Amino acid sequence: MSKNDSRIKDFAAQNQSIQSYVESTFQTEDPVLREVRNRSIQNGLPDIQIASTDARHLEILVRLSGAKKIVEIGTLGGYSGICLLRGGGPESFLHTFELEKKNAAVAQESFDQHGFTSQVKIHQGPANENLQSIESEGPFDLVFIDANKKGYPEYARWAAEHLKKGGVLIGDNTFAFGKINADTFESPLEEEITLHLREFNEYVASSGLFRGTILPTGEGLTVGIKL
Ligand SMILES: C[S@@+](CC[C@H](N)C(=O)[O-])C[C@H]1O[C@@H](n2cnc3c(N)ncnc32)[C@H](O)[C@@H]1O
Repeated sequence: MSKNDSRIKDFAAQNQSIQSYVESTFQTEDPVLREVRNRSIQNGLPDIQIASTDARHLEILVRLSGAKKIVEIGTLGGYSGICLLRGGGPESFLHTFELEKKNAAVAQESFDQHGFTSQVKIHQGPANENLQSIESEGPFDLVFIDANKKGYPEYARWAAEHLKKGGVLIGDNTFAFGKINADTFESPLEEEITLHLREFNEYVASSGLFRGTILPTGEGLTVGIKL
């Protein structure tokens, strides 16, 4: 079973036949996304892109919000980036931040092969060191976080400062792989990741800067609207 298999992303969507129904009815992974996922894996990238149903959720959230100036933290091979750009349409632009050189190269290929070259800039390196390079282009319409969990609270504070009023902050994996409200942990790393994600959720919930919720997707998708 691959890590992307929807059967293991079931903290909220417990009924697998319903999950399969959504995937097949809405064709959440079309040939473009399948090509990106397969080529990423062939190039040795980890199989950890967003689930196809969440990819569609992202596209729909971008469409609903009308976002055009979009920031992503955690590019991997460009799978979710393509969904963000599909949602934003031809007028949109994506700044996407990726730590690993190899991942950034695969993502560039993905954007080039599928017609998004002029709509995206990949910033390779640690996001917390590179985000400031785009600040003069803000405020932004939407920030999507899907990278190192330790960084989530800092990225959320950055988003609060650089999103427009009414802008959207989205964070993936915010059920902490099922541990978000756990009292005990299998390892110190699991506890550490969970505490960072709790801090992120609590910031969106109660800093007074956002109106938010967690959409109960398989992985948990925190969404906050900047007040
Ligand atoms: C879960 S993957 C992103 C998946 C991608 N959003 C998708 O669904 O197609 C997380 C990515 O964050 C990157 N990453 C980890 N730490 C980072 C950092 N400090 N700055 C930028 N990217 C980072 C990893 O290299 C990895 O490619």
